[in-house]
Amino acid sequence: MERTNYMTKVAIWCRHKDDNVIGIGPNIPWHVSSDFQRFKRITSGQNILAGERTYESFPNRTLPNRKIFILTFNQDYQVSDPENHYVVNNVDFFKEFSDDIYIAGGASIYKLFLSTPSKLNPDIIIDCVYMGDLNPELKGEKVDITSCIDFMKKNYIKVSKDYEQDDIVTSVYIKNSIFVEQSVLKRIITAIEEGMN
Ligand SMILES: NC(=O)c1ccc[n+]([C@@H]2O[C@H](COP(=O)([O-])OP(=O)(O)OC[C@H]3O[C@@H](n4cnc5c(N)ncnc54)[C@H](OP(=O)(O)O)[C@@H]3O)[C@@H](O)[C@H]2O)c1
Repeated sequence: MERTNYMTKVAIWCRHKDDNVIGIGPNIPWHVSSDFQRFKRITSGQNILAGERTYESFPNRTLPNRKIFILTFNQDYQVSDPENHYVVNNVDFFKEFSDDIYIAGGASIYKLFLSTPSKLNPDIIIDCVYMGDLNPELKGEKVDITSCIDFMKKNYIKVSKDYEQDDIVTSVYIKNSIFVEQSVLKRIITAIEEGMN
């Protein structure tokens, strides 16, 4: 078994069950408050990675109590909170990242981390699947992560039960044949279960 010599990378998303859509235009096409609460519990106090478009979609371009790394090609990009938000121009920065990081989208970022086997692959994936209907009023292009789900199905194994709440089924996967830091896994499962009551 290969042992990772870097800290834990965790990908977290919520995708639609039929087509793996995660967004329409700039928006997430459902509103499930327990999903936001779960994301908040799992990521509070952690480092988050977001693509520039996803960062722009956070209310006031921030997530309280988290450090945010924004991936953008724009070297002059201005963040909303320079003490806690950092601009990264090259994804390779995350190959040797020295702390845990939670990869929070959007699609282009998930695809960078989940396309070919590489040092960028997350150790853990929190796969939330929305079983309801998409908001029919939203206009814009559908954004899906089917290629990432195919990669996950081929290279990851499910290590949790299915947690079902408010039309969303959440399960946790880890990458095949690697050592995963058990304290991180335990913290994630606890954060999921805390919201189930
Ligand atoms: N359901 C969910 O769980 C979830 C989570 C997050 C987001 N979303 C949805 O996902 C959609 C947004 O996804 P998206 O793919 O359009 O945007 P995105 O991934 O959030 O951001 C795209 C931007 O990231 C930067 N970028 C991408 N690759 C890069 C690289 N290799 N190096 C440096 N910068 C790079 C580029 O910035 P520049 O080219 O501008 O410099 C690019 O425009 C929205 O619909 C959002 O609501 C859904």
